[in-house]
Amino acid sequence: MRNILITGGAGFIGSHLVRLMVNKYPGYKIINLDKLTYAGNLANLKDIEKRENYTFIKGDICDFDHVKSIFETMKIDGVIHLAAESHVDRSIKDPFSFAMTNVVGTLSLLQAARTSWDGNYEGKMFYHVSTDEVYGSLSDNTTLFTESTRYEPHSPYSASKASSDHFVRAFHDTYGLPVIISNCSNNYGSFQFPEKLIPLFINNIRHNKPLPVYGKGENIRDWLFVEDHAAAIDLLFHKGKVGETYNIGGFNEWKNIDLIKLMIRIVDRQLGRKEGTSDYLITYVTDRAGHDLRYAIDSTKLHKEFGWEPSLQFEEGLEKTVQWYLNNQEWLDNVTSGDYQKYYEDMYNRQ
Ligand code: NAD
Ligand code: TYD
Repeated sequence: MRNILITGGAGFIGSHLVRLMVNKYPGYKIINLDKLTYAGNLANLKDIEKRENYTFIKGDICDFDHVKSIFETMKIDGVIHLAAESHVDRSIKDPFSFAMTNVVGTLSLLQAARTSWDGNYEGKMFYHVSTDEVYGSLSDNTTLFTESTRYEPHSPYSASKASSDHFVRAFHDTYGLPVIISNCSNNYGSFQFPEKLIPLFINNIRHNKPLPVYGKGENIRDWLFVEDHAAAIDLLFHKGKVGETYNIGGFNEWKNIDLIKLMIRIVDRQLGRKEGTSDYLITYVTDRAGHDLRYAIDSTKLHKEFGWEPSLQFEEGLEKTVQWYLNNQEWLDNVTSGDYQKYYEDMYNRQ
């Protein structure tokens, strides 16, 4: 029996991880701690919310007393930490909330783990989910980010994630806390908040709305199917080496404009339109400030040590993802209108 605290489990990646762990480990207790910010949506977990090995707690990771009481009352022996502010554009507008949640929130969890476990680290694990964006931007087309690439974050988002990674390492080096960090590339799949490129553009193509391409659309991102990320976290949480960092990615780089044209073809076809009908929606807009040119992650270590590989080819994953958003218009409408938050606020106020 293990009691695993997953933070940010109502978000995009967190909900996939919670589902995987609840289904795969009936003997574990999975405790999902989430503040339910605009990005947290309990509808993402409807299929497993009544399962016996699952508990949801609404709370803020920055609230140290609350976090500490959860560790003690629920006898937490493993943490998988995903709660974060995650959108670069928001971080440019409001950097403080990124420092608060991503840095102070992570510190609060680390301190709660350390003081609750009190040096008895047998069977304990603090797993920190981070991003490839901490490594900065690649200026040529050949280099990849490895685990030893120097940190060079540019956005307030990546700076806050880099800072949280440093705190996690500091707790390992200073107090011996058993930690693992993974740095993953851009994720795509179901339940992603439609402010990020892929769900936003699928929704806009469907509704014939403009597709705002930042700059010239030449920036490159490395895309991984979210369920493959969740599977890699599960693997590393159980088998990874304490104190190590692992890169997670599928060697799948796409220039934004090429990806956008591919999305248009898939959405048009799935909607029964002639492929390319929606090309006219492409609208070049002012570039994002400090826009990183290229991310590309080398996940050789993960592959070599554990044989891990992504389960899906990108085109296949994107077809599935488009299909999911087109079939789940109600989910999209609820998150874009904000109704999902009112529904759950009412539910919690009634309890
Ligand atoms: P998300 O924005 O979809 O979800 C974040 C979740 O954290 C939400 O449920 C939100 O309610 C919760 N949260 C925010 N602040 C909180 C707080 N103070 N206390 C408790 N809960 C809080 O994010 P995501 O895309 O699922 O990313 C999850 C993690 O993975 C993040 O740490 C992110 O940095 C990392 N990551 C994301 C990607 C990606 O492509 N999305 C890639 C690599 C790493
Ligand atoms: P995003 O999904 O925000 O992820 P990240 O910035 O963390 O990589 O953006 C992916 C890429 O798409 C990034 O290069 C910015 C670009 N982009 C646009 O061109 N238009 C948009 O409306 C959005 C949201 C992103």
